[in-house]
Amino acid sequence: MPENIVLIGFMGCGKSTVGRELQQRLGYPLVDMDTEIEKLAGKPITRIFAEDGEPAFREMETALLREISATGGRHIVSTGGGVIGRPENRELLRGLGFVVWLHAPPAVILERTSRNRDRPLLHDDDPAAKIASLLGEREPLYRETSHLRIDTAGLDSTELATGILESARYHFCQRGQ
Ligand code: S3P
Repeated sequence: MPENIVLIGFMGCGKSTVGRELQQRLGYPLVDMDTEIEKLAGKPITRIFAEDGEPAFREMETALLREISATGGRHIVSTGGGVIGRPENRELLRGLGFVVWLHAPPAVILERTSRNRDRPLLHDDDPAAKIASLLGEREPLYRETSHLRIDTAGLDSTELATGILESARYHFCQRGQ
């Protein structure tokens, strides 16, 4: 059985930062899906969306998830916020191991994501409304896909990683690993 730790959640919830912390603590390789896709495409996500369109990006996400699933093993997998959109992706994510949903309130997400322009879905006249509508669609899917939800507000990445590691040990232990 694969023993990966998978981080899901909305943009700006700290998946990449917590992923790096877990990588350091566990020594498992980190697969940051957005970074991998940028490497494969040879361009940043903003350009993939602008030049090839969102559907092409979603295809790349699913292809990468299939590849990670085929390698099994022990990795920290940090995902993009929209990865839970496709049923196939949700199934692949659950099959990878322990899935953690990093959660933050909309105001925190707005504040964190307004610091840069690298998220094409939030290039909108009203990013607060866009965040609210995407959260409405996605929260049930994060819930359905995850084994654990963690509220990130007020916690730093060290504290978050400690909580995730304790829960992951329990999860894998319950499954006899
Ligand atoms: C997206 C989130 C981004 C990136 C892309 C689309 C989304 O990743 O995959 O811009 O649909 O929510 P982060 O969640 O790491 O910002």
